[in-house]
Amino acid sequence: MSSPFGHLPVLLESVSNLLCPPAGGTVLDLTAGRGGHAEALARAAGTGGRILLCDLDAGNLAFSEARVRAIPGIEVRTIHGSFANADRAMLSAGWAADRVLADLGFASTQMDDPARGFSFQNDGALDMRLDLSRGETAADLLARMSESALADAIFQLGEDPFARRIARSIVERRSRAPFRTTHELAIAVSAAYGPKARDSRMHPATRTFMALRIMVNDELGALRGLLEALRVAASTIPGKSWLNPGARIGVISFHSLEDRLVKHAFVEWESAGLGRRLTRKPVEASDAELRANPRARSAKLRVFEFATEIIVPR
Ligand SMILES: C[S@@+](CC[C@H](N)C(=O)[O-])C[C@H]1O[C@@H](n2cnc3c(N)ncnc32)[C@H](O)[C@@H]1O
Repeated sequence: MSSPFGHLPVLLESVSNLLCPPAGGTVLDLTAGRGGHAEALARAAGTGGRILLCDLDAGNLAFSEARVRAIPGIEVRTIHGSFANADRAMLSAGWAADRVLADLGFASTQMDDPARGFSFQNDGALDMRLDLSRGETAADLLARMSESALADAIFQLGEDPFARRIARSIVERRSRAPFRTTHELAIAVSAAYGPKARDSRMHPATRTFMALRIMVNDELGALRGLLEALRVAASTIPGKSWLNPGARIGVISFHSLEDRLVKHAFVEWESAGLGRRLTRKPVEASDAELRANPRARSAKLRVFEFATEIIVPR
């Protein structure tokens, strides 16, 4: 099923239930995307509610902003940039969040646009930046990384057992000409698989593309920074923190490494008395949702509720 907004928000019902804000409450959507979750949460906050939208992608941010501004009675602010900086934006607005959502990764509009370079299905420039205003592209990374660093990244981030052979094939191909397009990279990766490419259930380039996207956008670094900022905010006295007592944070991840970081952080926060996990096991998409939106297949939602009494470390 497609969406008139270009992206179907995953696990929308669970997000709406578990992160339903109090009436007139403040929501921080760290990955506003096409605004599906943001609209649902802003409507639930209702008149007097406030929402801060954050996204690395200026186009998505403008789109979700227009969508949420159409809701009467909601105050809207935006921050273009990484959610690693959302704490500063909240503090400078003088806002404290009751609900925080991070729906990690990319939106369908980004994946489906050949000019963004996320997909090997359509040929396009090898870019992969979520924020088109800054940073190195995937082509830049492929031009400068050593063979062993590429192999490690494709193995660790892409979990591809052929990582060493793929890195060798990339280095051999770039010695003749720099990579410029997604198809050039897909061909080099398929060459490393050889005849095994035909046996593989997924396209041989799937994991290499995922590893590159994670590196280009420093996705794990941003998530680590966010989790640390949340821990600090939850240990800061009310009035000085950008989180309200009792705030809930929901993270939807699509990669096992991301989910592991979130799971460990939530367990640690619970042991430190900062609050409790509302999801012991991650919430996953139902069969009905998967039929309507196969991209939800690896989505995992975890939700944490911070305590109403803040424990300030001495
Ligand atoms: C899965 S989409 C979010 C979809 C959104 N929840 C909706 O309902 O339309 C992820 C969005 O997060 C953005 N993004 C990814 N990493 C980010 C980061 N570190 N900081 C800010 N935005 C990020 C992407 O540009 C993309 O627009």
